[in-house]
Amino acid sequence: MTARSSRRSSFRTLGELEAAAERTLAPDIWGYVAGGAGAERTARANVEAFQRWWIRSDPRSEVRSVDLRTTLLGEPVSAPFFVAPTAYQRSVHPAGERATAAAAAALGLLGVYSTLSSDSLESIARAAGAGPRWFQLYLQRETALSLGLVRRAERAGYSAIVVTIDAPVLGSRDRQLESGFALRRSPPIGNGPRVRTPPRGPEWDGGPYRPEDVASSTWATIATIRRATRLPLVVKGVLTAEGARHAVRAGARGLVVSNHGGRQLDLAPPSLSALPAIVHAVGSRAEVYLDGGVRRGSDALVALALGARAVGIGRPVLWALACGGRAGVRRYLGMFGTELANSMLLAGRASISEVDRRLVEPAPRG
Ligand code: FNR
Ligand code: LAC
Repeated sequence: MTARSSRRSSFRTLGELEAAAERTLAPDIWGYVAGGAGAERTARANVEAFQRWWIRSDPRSEVRSVDLRTTLLGEPVSAPFFVAPTAYQRSVHPAGERATAAAAAALGLLGVYSTLSSDSLESIARAAGAGPRWFQLYLQRETALSLGLVRRAERAGYSAIVVTIDAPVLGSRDRQLESGFALRRSPPIGNGPRVRTPPRGPEWDGGPYRPEDVASSTWATIATIRRATRLPLVVKGVLTAEGARHAVRAGARGLVVSNHGGRQLDLAPPSLSALPAIVHAVGSRAEVYLDGGVRRGSDALVALALGARAVGIGRPVLWALACGGRAGVRRYLGMFGTELANSMLLAGRASISEVDRRLVEPAPRG
């Protein structure tokens, strides 16, 4: 099978999608997408955490239709799930982020796009058209460069700035090393040659571990970004109640409970386990979203019941992009929404406002 025909491979289920993506992608790219930090304990735990909750079914025959619509920072979206920011999308499909953006926008879903996109943020915005979009900022070593990216995002119609705080350096990623992923063989970063990826840490030589160019991602820098833009600020990578309180104090209107898909600190807790304490700490002061291990509509329902306002999807969107470009992403996001709506109908909930803590119960251990 040629790469071209395998790209068109169709999938009917999540299992078929993941398998097709692994067949389609070159081993180094697959290793980059699928892999996590260290022994991948957090990456696995993110997915497994959803198995610790059951959905309490209360079917009501009067629930005949389900409305998935909600708002995110005041902006209407068709459903409470979004495309999480992932870097270098042209390394999985030549149509890159523009295909992802067009697919999300066609469904009225929010897309979040990375500083490290292979397409420029302006071309992604054009592909999204009227679709909702947020810009994910990796703080750059020079704050002026970060602010330049924020300006461009404002002009291109992005409606929030998402600052990712969990990657001052990259996690140490065994699978990425083993599979030989090298960024220099990937397409260049679309936002310009000065934009920096989080650095890889140095090899420890008995002395202090001191990476050279860690960006200053202090709360003070984040507050500076917040003051410099009229766009709302979202902080991504929060895993503790203290972190959430800091983010709110720095002016965040939204938080993403996230461990970066288990790609940064191995043994960080799974996002779903961290969620309830953060929801409790934040109250109504900010919106709380979650990503990590969300694969299906029923996962989204559990996270929503535990207090997330929306969930982000990372790897599966890349699998779908690899397998079918824009049509593949459209198909996967459609499957996800179908399953969410179906699960809600079967559980007797007609709208997102009816999803609350009473919908789930912990699975007995053992
Ligand atoms: C990511 N993620 C990420 N996050 C971010 O803020 N900026 C980025 O550039 C990237 N890049 C990136 C690349 C790849 C290949 C992956 C898989 C992930 C993290 C992403 O936004 C999200 O937190 C996780 O992917 C969520 O976990 P799941 O859905 O992949 O389990
Ligand atoms: C990653 C970075 C680039 O997770 O966010 O690969």
